Amino acid sequence: MTTGRDLWDAEAESFDDQPDHGLADPACRAAWRHLLVAALPPAPARVADLGCGTGTLSLLLAGEGHTVTGIDYSPAMIARARVKAGHAAELHVGDAAAPPLPPASCDVVLCRHVLWALPDPAAALRRWSGLLAPGGRLVLVEGRWHTGGGLTAGQTLDLLRDAGREARLRPMPEPVFWGGPIDDERYLVVSR
Ligand SMILES: C[S@@+](CC[C@H](N)C(=O)[O-])C[C@H]1O[C@@H](n2cnc3c(N)ncnc32)[C@H](O)[C@@H]1O
Repeated sequence: MTTGRDLWDAEAESFDDQPDHGLADPACRAAWRHLLVAALPPAPARVADLGCGTGTLSLLLAGEGHTVTGIDYSPAMIARARVKAGHAAELHVGDAAAPPLPPASCDVVLCRHVLWALPDPAAALRRWSGLLAPGGRLVLVEGRWHTGGGLTAGQTLDLLRDAGREARLRPMPEPVFWGGPIDDERYLVVSR
């Protein structure tokens, strides 16, 4: 039986070809850096990058002086992340829905384009909240894509409200983040 993990394993080789995945274009990379630096506390913070994929954001944030642990359940994604970011971040194969991290051990739980795909996003948000040290924050990048997949901003804000969390929404319509114009909903949420 093919699992979600198998599908992501198969995606790993070409994953970074998408502009927002590989951040190969300097303008795109700079836009993401600016966005995330503004969303995170000053370095050095302890950042868990859950569903880190090929480690693009782990590497970016390590480069900003943060201490980053990346976790992904796809061994092929983690293998590529280790090549790219293994010198800069700790990288582990593991479940983002139940991360193998101690309670209250993170200043930031970062998750880009993964929450929507988890079987129980509400339960995941409760667990992630438990990973945060006092004053910590969740930084979520999500979308409701033209494919029909994803979470609307309203759905994500509702999930956070149900978890008893404040949230600040930053819509991300700018083409620079995505390598071109978009016609669907993409956004970042910071929840303290
Ligand atoms: C769309 S990619 C995003 C990767 C990375 N966050 C980024 O933005 O570049 C989704 C990633 O989430 C991972 N993933 C999906 N479900 C997961 C789970 N339950 N636990 C850990 N990783 C998961 C996949 O293996 C894949 O690497």
